Amino acid sequence: MSETAQKQAAFFAGILPLRLPAPRAAVAFAPSNIALGKYWGKRDDTLNLPCNSSLSVSLGSMGTTTKVSPANAQKDEVIFNERALEAENPFASKILRFTSLFRQGQTIPLRIETENSIPTAAGLASSASGFAALVSALDAAFSLDLSKEQQSCLARIGSGSATRSFWQGFVRWDRGNLQDGTDSYAVPLHATLPEFRIAIIPVDTGPKSQSSRDGMNHTVSSSPLFSSWPDRAEADCKIIEQAIMERDFVMLGETAEANALAMHATMMAARPALCYLKHESWRALETLWSARKDGLQAYAPMDAGANVKLIFLQDQEADIKSLFPNATIIEPFRER
Ligand code: DP6
Repeated sequence: MSETAQKQAAFFAGILPLRLPAPRAAVAFAPSNIALGKYWGKRDDTLNLPCNSSLSVSLGSMGTTTKVSPANAQKDEVIFNERALEAENPFASKILRFTSLFRQGQTIPLRIETENSIPTAAGLASSASGFAALVSALDAAFSLDLSKEQQSCLARIGSGSATRSFWQGFVRWDRGNLQDGTDSYAVPLHATLPEFRIAIIPVDTGPKSQSSRDGMNHTVSSSPLFSSWPDRAEADCKIIEQAIMERDFVMLGETAEANALAMHATMMAARPALCYLKHESWRALETLWSARKDGLQAYAPMDAGANVKLIFLQDQEADIKSLFPNATIIEPFRER
C-alpha cells in the first residue's frame, strides 16, 4: 500500500468501526453549495486539509441523490443518471476509490446509484454534493449513525467542498489545527436569510480547464501572492459570518466578491498563470459593476470556473432578470 493510501486508511479506521455490518439499501440527498468565503489551497494533500476556513450557502433542492445497496453480482456497480459506468470511468473510479477506503478492505460488493438534480446548463460542480450524498448513504446503508461532523470529516477525503454539503443554509468549514485532520470539518450556522437569492449565469458548461485540486496545488506551489491568501481568507470568513449574523447584506456581498477576486488574483499570479474566467465572464462582471453604480445590490462570488454566480436579495430579482435573462435563479432558503 502506498504511503498516501496508508495514511487515508488510518484516517477512516479512526472514525469507522473495525468491521462493517451487512449493508441494506439506503438513499440520501445532499445539496450542492457555493462558497462565499473560498477554500483555495491545501496544507495536507493526503488528508485534504485546507490552508484556511471557508463558508458557503447550500443550494436547497439542487444536489445529488445517492442510493447504496448490496450489489446484485459479486462486483461493485456504479450507475450515474441511470447509466451504468465502467469501473475505469474517471467519475466511477473516484467513487469506488472512496468506497474502498470506507469498506477498509472488507469484501462487500455495492451498487451505487447516483443522480444529480443540478441542471447541467447551470454548470455547477457536483463533487461537493456527490461525496456528501455518498457518505450519508453509506452511513445509512451500514446503520452506523455517525455524527454529521464525522461524516463531514470523511467526505473531506473525497472533496474539500463536500464537508459543507451536509446541511442546508449557511455552513462554515473550520480549517482545524490538528495534523491528524480530526478537527477539520464543517458546522452549520444558525441563521437564515429567506430573501437570499443566487443567480447562475452560464458561460461555459463544459469541464473546466483544470480541476480545482490541480489548480489549487499549482497556485500554492508557484504563486508569489499565495502567502498573503490564508490570513486574508480567514479574516474574510469571520467578516462574512458576522455579516450573516447581523443581516448586513452589503457587508456580506462586498466581502464575498472581494474574497473571490483575491482568490482569482492568486491563481492568475501563478506560474504559468491560471485563469478560469472567460471573456463572457468578464463581460458579465462589467455589466454587474456598472449596474451597481446605478444602485443594484448584487455581488459575484466567482468560483474556479467561467460561470458567473451572483448573490442578491429578493427585491433585486426583477433587475437581475432583465440584466441577465439567461440566469437560473435559486432560492436557497425555500421550504422543500
Ligand atoms: C473554488 O472542493 O473541488 O469551489 O478538495 O481538491 O476536491 P478538492 O477541491 P474542491 O474545491 C473547491 C474550490 C472552490 C472554493 C470552495 O468551494 O470553497
